[in-house]
Amino acid sequence: MNKSSVSAAVIGASGYTGQEMARLLASHPGFRLSHATSESRAGQSLAGNGLRYTRAAEVPLAEVDVVFTCLPAGESAEWALAARSAGARVIDLSPDLRDGRGGAVYGLPELWRSEIGSAELVANPGCYPTGILLSLVPLARSGLLDRSRTVMVDAASGVTGAGRHARTDLLYGEVAEDYRAYGVGNTHRHVPEIRTGLERGSGGAIPFVFTPHLLPVRRGILETMYVPVAEGIAAAEVKEAWRAAYAAETFVRLLPEGLPSLRDVVYGNEVALGAADVQDVDAPLVLVVAAFDNLLKGAAGQALQNANLMFGFEETDGLWPL
Ligand SMILES: NC(=O)c1ccc[n+]([C@@H]2O[C@H](COP(=O)([O-])OP(=O)(O)OC[C@H]3O[C@@H](n4cnc5c(N)ncnc54)[C@H](OP(=O)(O)O)[C@@H]3O)[C@@H](O)[C@H]2O)c1
Repeated sequence: MNKSSVSAAVIGASGYTGQEMARLLASHPGFRLSHATSESRAGQSLAGNGLRYTRAAEVPLAEVDVVFTCLPAGESAEWALAARSAGARVIDLSPDLRDGRGGAVYGLPELWRSEIGSAELVANPGCYPTGILLSLVPLARSGLLDRSRTVMVDAASGVTGAGRHARTDLLYGEVAEDYRAYGVGNTHRHVPEIRTGLERGSGGAIPFVFTPHLLPVRRGILETMYVPVAEGIAAAEVKEAWRAAYAAETFVRLLPEGLPSLRDVVYGNEVALGAADVQDVDAPLVLVVAAFDNLLKGAAGQALQNANLMFGFEETDGLWPL
Protein backbone atom coordinates (compact mmCIF):
# COMPACT_ATOMS: atom_id res chain seq x y z
CA MET A 1 0.00 0.00 0.00
CA ASN A 2 1.24 3.47 -0.85
CA LYS A 3 1.78 4.95 2.59
CA SER A 4 0.35 8.36 1.79
CA SER A 5 -2.88 6.70 0.69
CA VAL A 6 -3.81 5.34 4.13
CA SER A 7 -7.19 6.91 4.78
CA ALA A 8 -8.28 7.40 8.37
CA ALA A 9 -11.66 8.17 9.90
CA VAL A 10 -12.24 9.47 13.41
CA ILE A 11 -15.64 8.57 14.85
CA GLY A 12 -16.39 11.02 17.64
CA ALA A 13 -14.01 13.72 16.43
CA SER A 14 -15.64 16.57 18.35
CA GLY A 15 -14.74 15.09 21.74
CA TYR A 16 -11.49 15.65 23.58
CA THR A 17 -9.70 12.52 22.41
CA GLY A 18 -11.27 12.68 18.94
CA GLN A 19 -10.12 16.28 18.44
CA GLU A 20 -6.59 15.29 19.39
CA MET A 21 -6.78 12.24 17.09
CA ALA A 22 -7.94 14.35 14.14
CA ARG A 23 -5.25 16.95 14.79
CA LEU A 24 -2.47 14.33 14.90
CA LEU A 25 -3.71 12.56 11.76
CA ALA A 26 -4.06 15.79 9.79
CA SER A 27 -0.33 16.48 10.16
CA HIS A 28 0.88 12.86 9.88
CA PRO A 29 3.21 12.09 6.96
CA GLY A 30 1.37 8.90 5.98
CA PHE A 31 -2.24 8.97 7.13
CA ARG A 32 -4.86 11.08 5.41
CA LEU A 33 -7.77 12.20 7.58
CA SER A 34 -10.72 11.38 5.35
CA HIS A 35 -13.70 11.54 7.73
CA ALA A 36 -14.39 13.12 11.12
CA THR A 37 -17.73 12.63 12.79
CA SER A 38 -19.93 14.43 15.25
CA GLU A 39 -23.66 14.03 15.65
CA SER A 40 -24.14 17.45 17.25
CA ARG A 41 -21.84 19.38 14.89
CA ALA A 42 -22.56 17.64 11.57
CA GLY A 43 -21.93 20.09 8.73
CA GLN A 44 -19.64 22.37 10.76
CA SER A 45 -15.97 22.82 9.78
CA LEU A 46 -13.13 21.30 11.76
CA ALA A 47 -10.77 24.03 12.92
CA GLY A 48 -7.61 24.29 10.82
CA ASN A 49 -8.79 21.58 8.47
CA GLY A 50 -10.58 21.44 5.12
CA LEU A 51 -13.02 18.83 6.43
CA ARG A 52 -16.53 19.16 7.77
CA TYR A 53 -17.98 16.91 10.44
CA THR A 54 -20.33 14.25 9.17
CA ARG A 55 -22.62 11.91 11.06
CA ALA A 56 -21.08 8.55 11.96
CA ALA A 57 -23.67 6.72 9.86
CA GLU A 58 -22.49 8.64 6.77
CA VAL A 59 -18.92 7.28 6.89
CA PRO A 60 -18.36 4.66 4.16
CA LEU A 61 -16.59 2.26 6.53
CA ALA A 62 -15.70 -0.21 3.78
CA GLU A 63 -13.70 2.47 1.96
CA VAL A 64 -11.59 3.59 4.91
CA ASP A 65 -8.30 1.91 5.83
CA VAL A 66 -8.28 2.68 9.54
CA VAL A 67 -11.03 3.85 11.88
CA PHE A 68 -10.40 5.41 15.29
CA THR A 69 -13.45 5.15 17.52
CA CYS A 70 -13.44 7.87 20.19
CA LEU A 71 -16.93 7.50 21.66
CA PRO A 72 -18.10 7.25 25.26
CA ALA A 73 -17.91 3.90 27.02
CA GLY A 74 -20.80 1.74 25.95
CA GLU A 75 -21.26 3.60 22.65
CA SER A 76 -17.91 2.86 21.05
CA ALA A 77 -17.88 -0.94 20.63
CA GLU A 78 -20.79 -0.92 18.22
CA TRP A 79 -18.96 1.41 15.83
CA ALA A 80 -15.60 -0.30 16.30
CA LEU A 81 -17.04 -3.72 15.50
CA ALA A 82 -19.08 -2.37 12.58
CA ALA A 83 -15.96 -0.79 11.09
CA ARG A 84 -14.05 -4.03 11.56
CA SER A 85 -16.84 -6.03 9.89
CA ALA A 86 -16.71 -3.62 6.97
CA GLY A 87 -13.00 -4.46 6.54
CA ALA A 88 -11.28 -1.47 8.16
CA ARG A 89 -8.55 -1.88 10.73
CA VAL A 90 -9.75 -0.33 13.97
CA ILE A 91 -8.35 1.31 17.06
CA ASP A 92 -10.91 1.85 19.78
CA LEU A 93 -10.03 4.47 22.38
CA SER A 94 -12.89 3.54 24.72
CA PRO A 95 -12.83 0.89 27.47
CA ASP A 96 -15.38 -1.25 25.58
CA LEU A 97 -13.00 -3.81 24.04
CA ARG A 98 -10.16 -3.84 26.57
CA ASP A 99 -11.32 -7.25 27.81
CA GLY A 100 -10.41 -8.65 24.38
CA ARG A 101 -13.97 -8.68 23.03
CA GLY A 102 -14.08 -9.15 19.26
CA GLY A 103 -10.48 -10.40 19.32
CA ALA A 104 -9.16 -6.94 20.23
CA VAL A 105 -5.45 -6.73 21.00
CA TYR A 106 -4.48 -4.54 23.98
CA GLY A 107 -2.37 -1.76 22.49
CA LEU A 108 0.33 -0.77 24.96
CA PRO A 109 3.39 -0.81 22.67
CA GLU A 110 6.16 -0.54 25.25
CA LEU A 111 4.95 -3.76 26.93
CA TRP A 112 3.26 -5.76 24.15
CA ARG A 113 4.54 -4.32 20.87
CA SER A 114 4.92 -7.64 19.04
CA GLU A 115 1.16 -8.26 19.10
CA ILE A 116 0.15 -4.93 17.63
CA GLY A 117 1.66 -4.82 14.13
CA SER A 118 -0.53 -7.55 12.70
CA ALA A 119 -3.65 -6.68 14.72
CA GLU A 120 -6.86 -5.79 12.90
CA LEU A 121 -8.63 -4.52 16.03
CA VAL A 122 -6.79 -2.74 18.84
CA ALA A 123 -8.18 -1.70 22.21
CA ASN A 124 -6.24 1.40 23.21
CA PRO A 125 -5.38 1.36 26.94
CA GLY A 126 -7.05 3.54 29.53
CA CYS A 127 -5.26 6.67 30.63
CA TYR A 128 -4.71 5.77 34.29
CA PRO A 129 -3.67 2.15 33.52
CA THR A 130 -1.03 3.35 31.02
CA GLY A 131 1.11 5.05 33.68
CA ILE A 132 0.60 2.37 36.31
CA LEU A 133 1.45 -0.54 34.00
CA LEU A 134 4.49 1.18 32.51
CA SER A 135 5.75 1.96 36.03
CA LEU A 136 5.12 -1.33 37.78
CA VAL A 137 5.40 -4.15 35.23
CA PRO A 138 9.21 -3.90 34.80
CA LEU A 139 9.62 -3.84 38.60
CA ALA A 140 7.51 -6.96 39.02
CA ARG A 141 9.20 -8.73 36.12
CA SER A 142 12.63 -8.13 37.61
CA GLY A 143 11.57 -9.35 41.05
CA LEU A 144 11.99 -6.00 42.85
CA LEU A 145 8.36 -5.68 43.85
CA ASP A 146 7.15 -7.44 47.00
CA ARG A 147 3.83 -8.99 45.94
CA SER A 148 2.90 -9.93 49.50
CA ARG A 149 2.16 -6.25 50.25
CA THR A 150 -0.20 -3.75 48.60
CA VAL A 151 0.84 -1.03 46.14
CA MET A 152 -0.97 2.23 46.97
CA VAL A 153 -1.71 4.41 43.96
CA ASP A 154 -2.92 8.00 44.29
CA ALA A 155 -3.66 9.40 40.84
CA ALA A 156 -4.85 12.83 39.73
CA SER A 157 -6.29 13.74 36.35
CA GLY A 158 -7.11 17.04 34.68
CA VAL A 159 -10.75 17.64 33.81
CA THR A 160 -10.48 16.71 30.12
CA GLY A 161 -10.23 13.15 31.41
CA ALA A 162 -13.97 13.22 32.01
CA GLY A 163 -14.89 14.04 28.39
CA ARG A 164 -16.43 17.09 26.74
CA HIS A 165 -20.10 16.53 27.42
CA ALA A 166 -21.76 18.88 29.94
CA ARG A 167 -21.88 17.78 33.57
CA THR A 168 -22.82 19.94 36.54
CA ASP A 169 -20.13 18.47 38.79
CA LEU A 170 -17.49 19.48 36.24
CA LEU A 171 -18.53 23.13 35.92
CA TYR A 172 -15.74 25.65 36.55
CA GLY A 173 -17.52 26.79 39.70
CA GLU A 174 -17.51 23.26 41.04
CA VAL A 175 -13.93 22.19 40.27
CA ALA A 176 -11.85 25.39 40.35
CA GLU A 177 -9.60 25.72 43.41
CA ASP A 178 -10.76 22.32 44.62
CA TYR A 179 -9.16 18.88 44.75
CA ARG A 180 -11.14 15.75 45.43
CA ALA A 181 -10.99 11.97 45.34
CA TYR A 182 -13.60 10.00 43.42
CA GLY A 183 -14.22 6.35 42.57
CA VAL A 184 -12.55 5.40 45.87
CA GLY A 185 -12.15 1.91 47.36
CA ASN A 186 -11.10 0.24 44.09
CA THR A 187 -14.45 1.04 42.46
CA HIS A 188 -13.15 3.08 39.49
CA ARG A 189 -13.86 1.42 36.15
CA HIS A 190 -10.13 1.19 35.36
CA VAL A 191 -9.47 -1.17 38.29
CA PRO A 192 -10.15 -4.42 36.37
CA GLU A 193 -7.97 -3.21 33.48
CA ILE A 194 -5.12 -2.37 35.87
CA ARG A 195 -5.49 -5.73 37.64
CA THR A 196 -5.48 -7.70 34.39
CA GLY A 197 -2.56 -5.73 32.95
CA LEU A 198 -0.40 -6.18 36.05
CA GLU A 199 -1.14 -9.89 36.18
CA ARG A 200 -0.55 -10.45 32.50
CA GLY A 201 2.56 -8.27 32.45
CA SER A 202 4.23 -9.88 35.44
CA GLY A 203 2.85 -13.41 35.59
CA GLY A 204 1.01 -13.05 38.89
CA ALA A 205 -1.36 -10.94 40.95
CA ILE A 206 -0.19 -7.65 42.42
CA PRO A 207 -2.44 -6.26 45.15
CA PHE A 208 -3.12 -2.53 44.84
CA VAL A 209 -5.43 0.25 45.99
CA PHE A 210 -6.22 2.81 43.31
CA THR A 211 -7.57 6.23 44.29
CA PRO A 212 -8.21 8.71 41.48
CA HIS A 213 -8.56 12.46 42.10
CA LEU A 214 -9.92 15.30 40.02
CA LEU A 215 -7.34 18.04 39.53
CA PRO A 216 -8.58 21.42 38.25
CA VAL A 217 -6.22 21.68 35.28
CA ARG A 218 -7.17 21.00 31.67
CA ARG A 219 -4.92 18.08 30.94
CA GLY A 220 -2.34 15.78 32.47
CA ILE A 221 -2.23 12.81 34.84
CA LEU A 222 0.13 12.42 37.76
CA GLU A 223 0.23 9.07 39.57
CA THR A 224 2.01 8.64 42.89
CA MET A 225 2.70 5.01 43.77
CA TYR A 226 3.91 3.67 47.10
CA VAL A 227 5.63 0.51 45.94
CA PRO A 228 6.55 -2.26 48.42
CA VAL A 229 9.93 -3.60 47.41
CA ALA A 230 12.12 -6.51 48.47
CA GLU A 231 14.66 -6.07 51.28
CA GLY A 232 17.70 -4.08 50.12
CA ILE A 233 15.94 -2.50 47.13
CA ALA A 234 15.91 1.28 46.79
CA ALA A 235 15.09 3.90 44.16
CA ALA A 236 18.42 3.28 42.39
CA GLU A 237 17.47 -0.34 41.61
CA VAL A 238 14.00 0.73 40.45
CA LYS A 239 15.54 3.21 38.00
CA GLU A 240 17.96 0.57 36.79
CA ALA A 241 15.08 -1.85 36.08
CA TRP A 242 13.30 0.86 34.07
CA ARG A 243 16.52 1.66 32.19
CA ALA A 244 16.87 -1.98 31.21
CA ALA A 245 13.24 -2.22 30.09
CA TYR A 246 12.95 1.12 28.31
CA ALA A 247 16.44 1.87 26.95
CA ALA A 248 15.15 1.87 23.37
CA GLU A 249 11.82 3.61 24.04
CA THR A 250 11.22 7.11 22.68
CA PHE A 251 8.08 7.74 24.72
CA VAL A 252 9.33 6.77 28.18
CA ARG A 253 11.45 9.47 29.79
CA LEU A 254 13.38 8.32 32.86
CA LEU A 255 14.38 11.01 35.31
CA PRO A 256 17.84 10.29 36.77
CA GLU A 257 17.03 12.67 39.64
CA GLY A 258 13.86 14.15 41.06
CA LEU A 259 10.24 13.43 40.23
CA PRO A 260 8.21 14.45 37.16
CA SER A 261 5.46 17.05 37.19
CA LEU A 262 2.69 17.75 34.70
CA ARG A 263 4.53 20.61 33.06
CA ASP A 264 7.23 18.13 31.98
CA VAL A 265 4.78 16.15 29.88
CA VAL A 266 1.58 17.94 28.80
CA TYR A 267 1.19 18.39 25.04
CA GLY A 268 3.72 15.60 24.42
CA ASN A 269 3.45 11.82 24.03
CA GLU A 270 5.94 10.84 26.74
CA VAL A 271 5.36 9.26 30.08
CA ALA A 272 7.95 10.53 32.55
CA LEU A 273 8.96 8.25 35.43
CA GLY A 274 10.79 9.13 38.63
CA ALA A 275 11.54 7.28 41.86
CA ALA A 276 12.61 8.29 45.37
CA ASP A 277 13.67 6.49 48.53
CA VAL A 278 11.33 6.50 51.54
CA GLN A 279 12.80 6.77 55.02
CA ASP A 280 11.49 5.58 58.42
CA VAL A 281 9.12 2.85 57.25
CA ASP A 282 8.58 -0.60 58.79
CA ALA A 283 9.11 -2.43 55.50
CA PRO A 284 10.94 -1.12 52.42
CA LEU A 285 9.04 1.16 50.05
CA VAL A 286 10.04 3.13 46.97
CA LEU A 287 8.00 6.13 45.89
CA VAL A 288 7.29 6.13 42.16
CA VAL A 289 5.74 9.01 40.21
CA ALA A 290 4.48 8.78 36.63
CA ALA A 291 3.30 11.84 34.69
CA PHE A 292 1.84 12.05 31.18
CA ASP A 293 -0.72 13.80 29.03
CA ASN A 294 -4.07 12.01 29.33
CA LEU A 295 -5.09 12.98 25.79
CA LEU A 296 -1.79 11.95 24.14
CA LYS A 297 0.11 9.08 25.80
CA GLY A 298 -3.12 8.36 27.68
CA ALA A 299 -5.29 8.29 24.51
CA ALA A 300 -4.75 9.71 21.00
CA GLY A 301 -0.92 9.70 20.97
CA GLN A 302 -0.81 6.07 22.06
CA ALA A 303 -3.51 5.26 19.46
CA LEU A 304 -1.30 6.80 16.77
CA GLN A 305 1.69 4.76 18.01
CA ASN A 306 -0.49 1.67 17.53
CA ALA A 307 -1.66 2.79 14.07
CA ASN A 308 1.94 3.46 13.03
CA LEU A 309 2.86 -0.09 14.03
CA MET A 310 -0.17 -1.56 12.23
CA PHE A 311 0.57 0.24 8.95
CA GLY A 312 4.35 -0.10 8.92
CA PHE A 313 5.22 3.51 9.66
CA GLU A 314 7.89 4.55 12.13
CA GLU A 315 6.26 4.31 15.57
CA THR A 316 7.25 7.90 16.23
CA ASP A 317 5.78 9.34 13.00
CA GLY A 318 3.53 12.30 13.75
CA LEU A 319 4.43 12.11 17.44
CA TRP A 320 8.07 13.03 17.85
CA PRO A 321 8.82 15.75 18.39
CA LEU A 322 5.37 17.22 19.01
N1 LIG B 1 -10.63 12.04 27.90
C1 LIG B 1 -9.59 11.27 28.20
O1 LIG B 1 -8.62 11.72 28.81
C2 LIG B 1 -9.58 9.83 27.76
C3 LIG B 1 -8.38 9.11 27.86
C4 LIG B 1 -8.35 7.78 27.44
C5 LIG B 1 -9.51 7.20 26.96
N2 LIG B 1 -10.67 7.92 26.89
C6 LIG B 1 -11.86 7.25 26.34
O2 LIG B 1 -12.04 7.74 25.03
C7 LIG B 1 -13.44 7.80 24.73
C8 LIG B 1 -13.77 9.23 24.29
O3 LIG B 1 -13.50 10.09 25.38
P1 LIG B 1 -13.60 11.67 25.23
O4 LIG B 1 -13.08 12.22 26.50
O5 LIG B 1 -13.04 12.11 23.94
O6 LIG B 1 -15.21 11.85 25.18
P2 LIG B 1 -16.04 13.13 24.74
O7 LIG B 1 -15.19 14.34 24.84
O8 LIG B 1 -17.30 13.10 25.53
O9 LIG B 1 -16.37 12.88 23.21
C9 LIG B 1 -17.25 11.88 22.78
C10 LIG B 1 -17.44 11.94 21.26
O10 LIG B 1 -18.36 10.92 20.90
C11 LIG B 1 -19.43 11.48 20.14
N3 LIG B 1 -20.64 10.72 20.48
C12 LIG B 1 -21.21 10.60 21.72
N4 LIG B 1 -22.23 9.72 21.67
C13 LIG B 1 -22.30 9.27 20.38
C14 LIG B 1 -23.12 8.34 19.71
N5 LIG B 1 -24.10 7.67 20.35
N6 LIG B 1 -22.93 8.13 18.37
C15 LIG B 1 -21.95 8.78 17.72
N7 LIG B 1 -21.14 9.69 18.30
C16 LIG B 1 -21.30 9.91 19.63
C17 LIG B 1 -19.49 12.93 20.55
O11 LIG B 1 -20.01 13.62 19.45
P3 LIG B 1 -21.21 14.68 19.49
O12 LIG B 1 -21.61 14.83 20.94
O13 LIG B 1 -20.63 15.89 18.88
O14 LIG B 1 -22.28 14.13 18.67
C18 LIG B 1 -18.00 13.23 20.74
O15 LIG B 1 -17.40 13.52 19.49
C19 LIG B 1 -14.19 7.39 26.00
O16 LIG B 1 -14.61 6.07 25.88
C20 LIG B 1 -13.14 7.54 27.09
O17 LIG B 1 -13.34 6.63 28.14
C21 LIG B 1 -10.73 9.23 27.27
